[in-house]
Amino acid sequence: MSKLIVTSALPYANGDIHIGHLVEYIQTDIFVRFQRLIGNNVLYVCASDAHGTPIEINAAKKGMTPKELVGEFHDRHQADFSRFEVSFDEFYTTDSPENQKHCEIIYLRAKEKGHIDSRDIEQFYCERCGRFLPDRYIKGTCPKCSTLDQYGDVCESCGATYRPTELQDAHCAICGAKPEMRSSLHLFFKLIDFNDFLREWTSERGHLQDEVKGFVHTWIDQGLRDWDISRDGPYFGFRIPGEDNKFFYVWLDAPIGYIGATEHYCAGKDDVSVEEYWIDHASKTEIHHFIGKDIAYFHTLFWPAMLKAADYRIPTAVHVHGFLTVDSRKMSKSRGTFITARQFADQINPSFLRYFYAAKLGSTIDDIDLNLEEFVNRTNAELVNNITNLISRSVSFLNKRLDSRLGIVPQGCEGLVKDVLAHADQCLDDYNALKYSNVVRNILAISDIANNYVQQNEPWATIKSDPEKARNDLTFAINCSKILAILLKPIVPSYSVKVEQILGLDDLRWEDIKFDLEQRSVNVFEKLAERLEPGAMTRLIEASKDDLAVKELKTDTPDFKEEIAFDDFEKIDLRVGKILSASEVEGSDKLLKLRVDVGREIRTVFAGIKSSYSPQDLVGRKAAVVCNLAPRKMRFGTSEAMVLAASSPEGKIVLCDFGEEISPGSTIK
Ligand code: 2FM
Ligand code: ZN
Repeated sequence: MSKLIVTSALPYANGDIHIGHLVEYIQTDIFVRFQRLIGNNVLYVCASDAHGTPIEINAAKKGMTPKELVGEFHDRHQADFSRFEVSFDEFYTTDSPENQKHCEIIYLRAKEKGHIDSRDIEQFYCERCGRFLPDRYIKGTCPKCSTLDQYGDVCESCGATYRPTELQDAHCAICGAKPEMRSSLHLFFKLIDFNDFLREWTSERGHLQDEVKGFVHTWIDQGLRDWDISRDGPYFGFRIPGEDNKFFYVWLDAPIGYIGATEHYCAGKDDVSVEEYWIDHASKTEIHHFIGKDIAYFHTLFWPAMLKAADYRIPTAVHVHGFLTVDSRKMSKSRGTFITARQFADQINPSFLRYFYAAKLGSTIDDIDLNLEEFVNRTNAELVNNITNLISRSVSFLNKRLDSRLGIVPQGCEGLVKDVLAHADQCLDDYNALKYSNVVRNILAISDIANNYVQQNEPWATIKSDPEKARNDLTFAINCSKILAILLKPIVPSYSVKVEQILGLDDLRWEDIKFDLEQRSVNVFEKLAERLEPGAMTRLIEASKDDLAVKELKTDTPDFKEEIAFDDFEKIDLRVGKILSASEVEGSDKLLKLRVDVGREIRTVFAGIKSSYSPQDLVGRKAAVVCNLAPRKMRFGTSEAMVLAASSPEGKIVLCDFGEEISPGSTIK
């Protein structure tokens, strides 16, 4: 038995888990469940990534403390993960005493050994906000293509990268003020001290995929640069021991969060300890990290170097995956493909996504595509029509016609039995190599063998002349179903548990992959998985767009007034009015006097729109006018109608006018 600790990247406690994140959690969870299935001892840890500027600023915007915001997202994330059956043993937080302790140990050991440097750096500082501004909190005009409102590090329009000082009209993204340059002392981790160690560790077999090794070596060849690990306050993070108002950069404490989470898990347990996983060099426990390719630098260079500096254990493997695209394009909020885990699980069986991702995942860093049509087709054709149908037809037939009793695996099936077991062996290799798409192919091959066997042997026909043959033929299919349930366990765990229950089995393990179910009963068939309707994904996309709209609603607009009857609305005589003349009103700073053609008459209107319009802006324009409001006597004269205008919470006034030609007096309803 091997012992492993496995991690997935820690999600920022600052936004919902989406289907892009789920690629990694599902990939890791399949690995973890497979390892458990073959009898290995796995500890799967994760945590909320709690620190950093964005969380602090978002919390302030919402009138919460950062801890409250982190707590809220921590709970949301945990609920989402559990719906997708992600089986963490520990889901902790980086904002913890355990993590702080390990951060301090690692930093102080690195410092003691001379791996920490300090020097002044110049950075934008916002006087109004009283803080240094990370690149993402500086906005301005792109120096290359002049697009407005771009971040301090990269232009989203032309893709240029630059330093924030190169931006034209740089301003603070939080308050809009013009920042100034200020210098401050920063602490640096001297990555170059670990050049030889990193080259050796990354070259040794098994730590990295070959293609990852390739680009990591390019980084090393280009020269490893010092890493800035400190941030000045205010900053939501851990204070750096021995320094005044300096905090560890979030990316220093985030991976150490793996260790903090382990320590929290081990607390109070006699048979496990954080030392065994992370510290004791005599330990044989394997450390496996799963990450996306965007954070490879942190995990393949900074992280092993930090651990080395502090004499902690070094990871066994860092497994890197690609990004998710939807219909071959980046996930997009406006296209509705930025789907959260929650939105997905509210509408579609989460097992289907687990199955689809498995069917797509290999051991490379290629992006994987969620093609919506393919998702529906494969779910229906493979998981429902092929696999589920095999189990459903075999068990239901036994239930209805053969007293739910199994016979024996028929003579003459030896060849097929061998084929099935060979496919299962192949699954073992492919699971080990993280080639899940191959696993799925082999699973489908077994399902095909069994379905074809049933089809060819026609138990529904033979039952009339030779019911025992029919029983035995179905016994072959049921044994295949059991094997499928085992092979599918890491991918669709709750589905497999249901199959186990139907077959009257429990807690199947890898070693149960054999043709040994004979002369026993099966339970009554129960629904396993239902077909997806063709429009299922369209509905999901629409719901995701709608949710986005809800998020963008302005809640600072006034409450709605009491409901009125349609008859009441009909009492209002709304017309198109053409403004013939407009003039200022002496003694009023709000009103303009208008003469308005409303078709049958010309009316005088005093309108409170002077703050937004000058008289010459209005002449000739057409606006919505209430024509049956009782005339209002004012100091300056009588107003004989009301011109409608919209006013925003910020006090802006905009005339309700018409984008197309329409004659004065036309009715509005
Ligand atoms: O990129 C991210 O989403 C980070 N929150 C991942 C951190 S992983 C680890 F280092 F903690
Ligand atoms: Zn500011």
